[in-house]
Amino acid sequence: MISQRKKDHISLALKSNDRLAVGGGFDRYEFEHNALPEIDFESVDASVNFLNRKLKLPLMISSITGGDEDGNINAKLAEIAQSFGLGMAVGSQRIALEKPEFEGSFKVRRYAPNILLFANLGAVQLNYGYSIDECKRAVELIEADGLILHLNPLQEVFQSNGNTNFSGLLKKIENVCSSISRPVIVKEVGYGISENVAKKLRNAGVFAVEIGGSGSVSWPDIESERSNEPIIKKAAKAFEDWGLSTAEQLEAIAKIKGDMEIIAGGGIKTGVDIAKAVVLGAKICGNATDFLRKIAVSQSECEVFIKTLAFELKTTMFCVGCQNIDELRSTKLNRRSQK
Ligand SMILES: Cc1cc2nc3c(=O)[nH]c(=O)nc-3n(C[C@H](O)[C@H](O)[C@H](O)COP(=O)(O)O)c2cc1C
Repeated sequence: MISQRKKDHISLALKSNDRLAVGGGFDRYEFEHNALPEIDFESVDASVNFLNRKLKLPLMISSITGGDEDGNINAKLAEIAQSFGLGMAVGSQRIALEKPEFEGSFKVRRYAPNILLFANLGAVQLNYGYSIDECKRAVELIEADGLILHLNPLQEVFQSNGNTNFSGLLKKIENVCSSISRPVIVKEVGYGISENVAKKLRNAGVFAVEIGGSGSVSWPDIESERSNEPIIKKAAKAFEDWGLSTAEQLEAIAKIKGDMEIIAGGGIKTGVDIAKAVVLGAKICGNATDFLRKIAVSQSECEVFIKTLAFELKTTMFCVGCQNIDELRSTKLNRRSQK
């Protein structure tokens, strides 16, 4: 059942349009162009260190899948991540924990021995029988550098037989943070993390939040395509513009984050968006939907996508006079005046 759901999600995400009405929000910010950068474009270095791994770009392939034995999407993405020096997160590992025959599609270390790699589980599973043990197993299974717990209340409500009991989860997340030896990242799957939720997660000992704001697919739309329920089909429309913008949440969370790191995901479409996210406070950025769409076409399509992002990011850094990511972090970014 989970396997079929994953296949449906992939095929419907490939067909559906992004929720651009509530996109990532990066167009609301602009850099000040520097006509005299006084650096050599060729020497611009966009690499970063994160959790003792070196990334050639501040970018990871966000969680998409696993258990799709036919497509083997994780293996292809892992090879790309290894050769381009990107991070990667696998999709929810629940299917592998419950059906060992699916473990193989998550074990990507054989293709990507050196990448920053994250395990992934739904946080709500902590209310449905999962404990510290499952969290540890998810990490060990794929030799991950950390564990991502995803929050997806809107998706679960629209999903048939979704797991909708989110009560008391914060305490359980806190328990996971203090009981496993790897850093815990908490994310949303496309509707964003508010400043208030970020504060609670910070106080619970979460290592990083991945904002997972709006700008990609609509989960109510996807679930309503899979459903025969008239109410689900009708209600999906009401949530078309639901969600928090990644850029604005990033700016707000950066002010209260303390030691917590921020990963900017949700509607990151260009290297200029990545540069803006770094200035607004992101340690690294993530993208899922575009990587999925490119890898579904071909490996080379995916490579062109990454090279384009890298070129756009380095060009942005050059045109604001920044030689490296540390310099970029202290660059000025203006909010565009409302037109
Ligand atoms: C087809 C698909 C499957 C996804 N599966 C997962 C998942 O298993 N676990 C998870 O944490 N996030 C999952 N996500 C959410 C993404 O990782 C990401 O947070 C979200 O799509 C926003 O980023 P984007 O605008 O770059 O797509 C999925 C997204 C898509 C499109």
